[in-house]
Formats: sequence, structure tokens, C-alpha cells
Amino acid sequence: MSKEHINVYTEGSTGVIQLNRPKVANALNRKMVDEIVEQMEAFDRDETIRVIFIKGNEKAFAAGADIEEMMDDTPLSLEQLDPFAVWDRMMLIKKPIIAGVNGFALGGGFELVLHCDLIVAAEDAKFGFPEVNLGVMPGAGGTQLLTKAMGRAKALEWIWLGQPMGAQEALNYGVINRIAAPELVEEEALRLASQLSKQAPVSLRLIKEAVSEAVDTPLNEGLTLERKNFYLAFATQDQKEGMKAFTEKRRPSFKGV
Ligand code: CAA
Repeated sequence: MSKEHINVYTEGSTGVIQLNRPKVANALNRKMVDEIVEQMEAFDRDETIRVIFIKGNEKAFAAGADIEEMMDDTPLSLEQLDPFAVWDRMMLIKKPIIAGVNGFALGGGFELVLHCDLIVAAEDAKFGFPEVNLGVMPGAGGTQLLTKAMGRAKALEWIWLGQPMGAQEALNYGVINRIAAPELVEEEALRLASQLSKQAPVSLRLIKEAVSEAVDTPLNEGLTLERKNFYLAFATQDQKEGMKAFTEKRRPSFKGV
């Protein structure tokens, strides 16, 4: 199942994507981003998959966009190719996406992490936007996503200074969800995935849509979507099963229908 720049496999009902350009600290060239997005979409369509897990290797999640690939770009070549347009498709993935971060998540690597729903990081992981040191700035969502995650003042400080942020600090600011010992990151992420796999899949999708709406829209529009999704959840067998199981004092078994 693997492609040129990613390894792909499954762990139970979790679809795993491993970034695989170890010689360049998993720098994200355009082909690799295409492969990641295509694979996320394939897992999103696959009925046997409940959660998507993305990881790098023990040294690097990803060190950013491939600098060699983009160093000769011009405004016109970028406008024509629009290399970041493909990133928008990640926002449309409906299933939960968990990132497991060991080592560096820099530039586009950090942006990839910020496109995920839940983030588990090694206690010595480093996050950052070094683009300012290259005379550019984040371009795949970093200024927007980090600001929404940690607030304007701290986001501006991190992006302006271009220095890496440690995992503990990222956790304190609510940018990531959990910290683990480096060798336990994957185990922790898969445990989280396994917990999510037992939840009602339609509920998870409707919740993801509604929570994302809270970040991006005025309150009244978010409330309208939340109410619509709440009502929609009652169209599923899982709603019947969940409430019946509660009254029968047993654990529900969710089927995703
Ligand atoms: N692009 C291309 N190649 C990269 C790379 C990148 N982003 N990051 C690392 N590499 C390559 C290095 O050139 C090196 O290759 P060689 O062995 O052929 O010399 C190899 O990966 C290993 O890197 P280092 O020798 O530098 O390893 P290190 O452990 O000393 O340092 C690092 C690791 C801190 C990640 C360092 O490589 C680094 O600072 N990389 C650049 C990070 C960066 O600036 N990222 C932002 C990119 S721009 C961006 O992402 C824009 C956007 O918004 C999408």
C-alpha cells in the first residue's frame, strides 16, 4: 500500500500514514503532500477505518516544506502551481486524525500537525515556524491555525522569533493534547485511536464538524449547525443503541450506521 514518500498500513481500525523521507528529516515536497492528502481521503472513504494516525520517525515528524524544491520559485510559478491549495482538502476529512510527533515539527511539518485533530507529542518534541529565518513566512495555514490555537500575542511571538517551542509549552497553551515519553508516543496515540474507534462514528464526524465551526464562524451560525447535527444524530442506529444500552446498563456497540 505504500507510496513513494509515505508508508501506509493499518493497525486494527486505525489507518496509519508514516512520513518517509528520512534523509531530509521528512521535508515535505509537493508529491509527498499529494500522497498524504490522497491517503487521508482514501482512509476517510474506507468503511473499515475509524481513525487516521499520522507520524514521522523518532528524529523528525517533518522539518517543513522542502526548501530545495521551492528555493527557485517565483510569485508567478507559485500563483500558477498553487502548491498549498491541496492542503484545503485536509480540512474536509471527516474522521478523527491523530498526529504522533517525535523530534521536530517545523514549518510545513508543524502546519501538517495543526491540520490534525488530536496531537500526541514526545516530551522532547519541538514545534516551530522557522520561515522568518529563511526570509519568508508560514504559507500552509500556520499563521491562522496557530493563532486560533494559542491566541494572537503568543502566536505572533513564536512566528516572529522563529524559535522552536517545546512540547510542554505547546501543551500549556493548548496547541497539543498529550505528552508522552518519546518511545511511548505511538502507543499513546494508538490507545487514543482505539478509544475513539469505540465511539459512535457518525457522532464523531458530526462533533468534528460542529467544533470546527466554532472556530471559524459567528456564534449564531455555529449554534445552528450544532443543532442540525444533534437532530441528525437521531437518524442513526447508533443513537438507538447508545440510549438503549444506557437504560439496560451495558456498554453500547456502535456500528457507524
Ligand atoms: N527542506 C529540505 N531539506 C531539509 C529540510 C527542509 N525543510 N530540513 C532538513 N533538510 C535536510 C538537510 O539539508 C540535511 O540534508 P543533507 O544531509 O543532504 O545535508 C538533512 O535534511 C538533515 O538535516 P540536518 O543535517 O540539518 O539535521 P539536523 O539534525 O542538524 O537539523 C533541522 C534538523 C533542525 C530540522 C534542520 O535541518 C533545519 O533547520 N531544517 C530546516 C527547517 C525549516 O526551515 N523549515 C521550514 C521550511 S519552509 C516551510 O515549511 C514553508 C511553509 O509554510 C510550508
